[in-house]
Amino acid sequence: MADSRFVSCAWQIMDELSKSDQLESSLETCIKILTDTVGCESGSIWMRNTVDHRFYIVASSGNADVSGTSTGEDESFIGKIVKSEQSKIVDDCAAVPEIAEDKFFSTLFGKNAILVPLRTPLSVIGCLQLNNKEGGFSEADQGLLENCGALIALDVEDKGLSFSPNKDRKPLLQLKNVIKEFMSGEEMRRILKGIDLDVYEGELLVVLGESGCGKSTMLNIIGGMDQLSEGQFLVEGKDFSHPSEQELTQYRRDYIGFIFQSYNLMPNLNALENVEFIAEISNHPRDPMECLELVGLKEKWNRYPSAMSGGQQQRVCIARVIAKEPKIILADEPTAALDYETGKGVLKAIENIVKNDKKTVIMVTHNVEIAKMANRVIRLRNGLISSVRINFNPLTAEDLVW
Ligand SMILES: Nc1ncnc2c1ncn2[C@@H]1O[C@H](COP(=O)(O)OP(=O)(O)OP(=O)(O)O)[C@@H](O)[C@H]1O
Ligand SMILES: [Mg+2]
Repeated sequence: MADSRFVSCAWQIMDELSKSDQLESSLETCIKILTDTVGCESGSIWMRNTVDHRFYIVASSGNADVSGTSTGEDESFIGKIVKSEQSKIVDDCAAVPEIAEDKFFSTLFGKNAILVPLRTPLSVIGCLQLNNKEGGFSEADQGLLENCGALIALDVEDKGLSFSPNKDRKPLLQLKNVIKEFMSGEEMRRILKGIDLDVYEGELLVVLGESGCGKSTMLNIIGGMDQLSEGQFLVEGKDFSHPSEQELTQYRRDYIGFIFQSYNLMPNLNALENVEFIAEISNHPRDPMECLELVGLKEKWNRYPSAMSGGQQQRVCIARVIAKEPKIILADEPTAALDYETGKGVLKAIENIVKNDKKTVIMVTHNVEIAKMANRVIRLRNGLISSVRINFNPLTAEDLVW
């Protein structure tokens, strides 16, 4: 029997695949369309990497950061399904040893699940996974997913998804079930409701989300400017959930550089002096003039803030952060107050830091176009991560248009 949901779902997916210029971001939308249509909690798209032949989660919807997870063909339940080339409905994940006995997979799969291999006429290139449907997944769901999966598989085959595996990377920062509450009048408001996130060395992570969803709150916890209420925050594997004042000061000094929306330059110091000022109070500062050069302001070193545009002032701020040589740079809407051209200049400076200096940058923005330059994009909604995607082919700042 034809599934009445199929036409609408297939239409949305085809529309998304045809209009988007970035395959990764359309896969993120596709998994959302599928979880919404089927009416389940979360889902992931796994793709085979043609270099190491492992399967990686390339897009997901739901509350956890599962991006970059990989599995081999002979390693897990996912691998088994792909190898068998047969779809599978699992009504009770706790009864399947391969799922139940693995901590990560048991969380990922939840109560029940459906797995559908993504096939092109020639081969199986990945797998669709949906989890946690009230009442369980049906055969109609399976048919729907198989047909929609074929549309996705053909598009991926056509456009090509080339990515390099990162399985040897260790997380620099880890948030584990992080909860943050604030007092609001008489009542306690829960702003972050259980954030799970790993941040890797050398990545540009963009955080999107509507106003008030907790982006700055999360950034402030990562930056050591605020502390979590519950959960765990690890820095290079060390527990930093409840640091002492001294540990916190040291962490901020050695690890963190913060680029705010407002520039906060000293008005009576010129560009170079503003950078030198920060360099003086850090342990291993970088040559201030070299930092100005990195942001394209070497020639303007003797300008005072009042004689610089907003974008130039923002770039001095970035030079100041670079001079400090922090491992992690946090940027909260760094281009929000800037016009297009100056905003682009600032993004190029940030891009340079990631590519040339191998720094880790976490950037909050409202601008979805800017997310295209990220290695990874997470969305926050209602204090939770609502989706994650990996950009295997990030755009350069130069190529962004908004
Ligand atoms: N120190 C605080 N005390 C009480 N409530 C706070 C505090 N900081 C943030 N909040 C509340 O937490 C919620 C999330 O704030 P946050 O600044 O993290 O949002 P955001 O996602 O950064 O929004 P925007 O995009 O507008 O910057 C808001 O409702 C805010 O009022
Ligand atoms: Mg904010």
